[in-house]
Amino acid sequence: MTWSADRRALRILDQRLLPQETRIRELTDLDEIIEAIRTLAVRGAPAIGVAAAIGLVVALRHHATSSVPAPVLLEDFVTRLIAARPTAVNLAWAVQRMHRAACAMPATATGEAVLDRLEAEAEAIRCEDVAMCEAIGRHGLALIGEGARVLTHCNAGALATAGSGTALAPVYAAHAAGRRVSVFADETRPLRQGARLTAWELAQAGIPVTVLPDGAAASLLASGAIDLVIVGADRITANGDVANKVGTYGVALAARAHGVPFYVAAPWSTIDPATATGADIIIEHRHEEELAPLPPGVPAWNPAFDVTPRALISGYLTDRGFVTPPFGT
Ligand code: MRU
Repeated sequence: MTWSADRRALRILDQRLLPQETRIRELTDLDEIIEAIRTLAVRGAPAIGVAAAIGLVVALRHHATSSVPAPVLLEDFVTRLIAARPTAVNLAWAVQRMHRAACAMPATATGEAVLDRLEAEAEAIRCEDVAMCEAIGRHGLALIGEGARVLTHCNAGALATAGSGTALAPVYAAHAAGRRVSVFADETRPLRQGARLTAWELAQAGIPVTVLPDGAAASLLASGAIDLVIVGADRITANGDVANKVGTYGVALAARAHGVPFYVAAPWSTIDPATATGADIIIEHRHEEELAPLPPGVPAWNPAFDVTPRALISGYLTDRGFVTPPFGT
């Protein structure tokens, strides 16, 4: 995702429609932008941070003629954007960074000057995200030997960032370096990000990818067909616990049981030293409709994320290289 050509809109590829349709949408209205984040038209922890930063600027410009005073509008937009999804720390991280940039402007600054400053900050967040993916790929190249077979869960690739991804960045780097690498993508129930998105973007890049139902991951790991697991993260707590797409925890347990290394790849901004452990993470629960059809009257339990404890994680790959918890402020 990025800016529109005139920088007056947030430009996204609507991920709800993939792989059947590649539809680009340009959004300017805050409600539309929040809806896009909430309904996963744009998704993935780093991507929603970048989208919210750009979205804040374009929505403020779009509403510039509103009768609400600019500082009140800013506070309102910041609060509403942060509330769009609770688990990925990157969303609040990016929006709070934008808020700080606005607050640091002199009281005498014009509304236009504040918007220009915010535009520069959002572009910095986007560019840093691209560079972060590149750095994760570079550091992670050491994990991917010739012929490596990688299992991943959900989508932590280009679609989930402004660059080449987090978990998939080492895969892309290895492919670019001429190494043979193949990926097994968990389908990722219920919204099928693995089957629809990871498989789509890897196929586009010419990297062999095989999709499996989530329930088959344990037996695939037991079969010896996987050399390593790499997943992304939505929040990494001070002690090293990791929130990621629901099902990640089960993959980590199976990987440990079968002696397969399990890596988490994420930008430094996904580390949240202010949250002590995984038990303190707010897990987003989604509508039971996503599990439909169910027999009438049968409720659903539909958490979007789960927490993998530090003990199951072989290594943390970030844009700063491999890092080890605990993570301080
Ligand atoms: O609900 P989603 O599709 O936004 O969940 C995405 C994930 O869980 C990703 O693995 C995570 O955000 C890392 S993306 C680089």
